[in-house]
Amino acid sequence: MTDPTLQVLIPAAQVQKRIRELGQQISADYPTGKLHMICILKGACFFLTDLARAMTRDVYVDFMGISTYGKGKTSSGEVQVTKDLDTSLEDADVLIVEDIVDSGVTLTYLMHLLEQRQPRSIRIAALLDKPERRQRPIEANYVGFKIPDRFVVGYGLDFAEKYRNLDDICVLEEPK
Ligand code: IMP
Ligand code: MG
Repeated sequence: MTDPTLQVLIPAAQVQKRIRELGQQISADYPTGKLHMICILKGACFFLTDLARAMTRDVYVDFMGISTYGKGKTSSGEVQVTKDLDTSLEDADVLIVEDIVDSGVTLTYLMHLLEQRQPRSIRIAALLDKPERRQRPIEANYVGFKIPDRFVVGYGLDFAEKYRNLDDICVLEEPK
């Protein structure tokens, strides 16, 4: 696809290589127990499916719908659950799978929500991290790539629901 507003930041092959490394590392960190991978819809669904297949142990997969961003590029600061989990988290090791940590508002809210369900542990795997943008003191335990403060799309990430199906992670330039 040629689109003058897109600039490749992380090519697909590099994304896939890093996810295989994360899969091996996370599998080694959880040798036993019930591991629930919780995909935060919609952005993390591409990451979740590749990460789950890179794991070398059994995993449960569940989905949670969250909306913070609305249709623009800036967070509304309000978090809403649009779809809840289908499974109980009691005694489970929970791995929240998120596309990107930006202000940290979404993940802070989610951590509090899921802690109330008494899992054995909770950790976060985020494909991307924009540390400069943080407004809440939260860090992912597993990060694919730290990136600068640019708006990115592709590999699940969207702008107004567009560009999710790009293989590469791209910076979306403002139209002149
Ligand atoms: P936070 O609550 O500000 O950390 O926002 C997290 C959510 O904002 C992510 O799950 C994304 O859906 C969205 N988001 C943040 N930065 C970007 C970006 O650069 N591109 C696309 N979506 C983003
Ligand atoms: Mg999201």
